[in-house]
Amino acid sequence: MAAINKQKLVRAALRAQSRAIAPYSKFKVGAALLTKSGEIIGGANVENASYGLTCCAERVALFKALTEGKRNFTAIAVVARCAGGAMPCGACRQLLSEFAPRAKVFVADSRAPKVIREFSVRELLPGAFKL
Ligand code: THU
Repeated sequence: MAAINKQKLVRAALRAQSRAIAPYSKFKVGAALLTKSGEIIGGANVENASYGLTCCAERVALFKALTEGKRNFTAIAVVARCAGGAMPCGACRQLLSEFAPRAKVFVADSRAPKVIREFSVRELLPGAFKL
């Protein structure tokens, strides 16, 4: 299993953030998923005129990775211009608990990317819905 380099993963999330499409909220979020084999998959939030169809950066990264056949995620980094960084929303927490249950979640303010907070998916969503 590749070692987790959280600074590197946050840098990948910052690159993804630059491609966010957020003309309505102006709140650009970047995410980067790390697989067990060391691959990194980025994602950014995508908004459109029908606001409710917005997809968060975390889910874009997950959907990209999953539909490219990637599994076994060991970490995800999330960055946004926000004090302490933006915490994943409830919907993304559900998806993470289903598809990346053991991943570490790194959260950083994009203006201070060396300050990285770390969470487990379990602590972000205890008692996740399961079928
Ligand atoms: N957003 C994310 O991409 N990830 C989060 O963790 C929180 C919120 C996006 C959705 C929307 O485009 C913008 O941030 C404002 O809510």
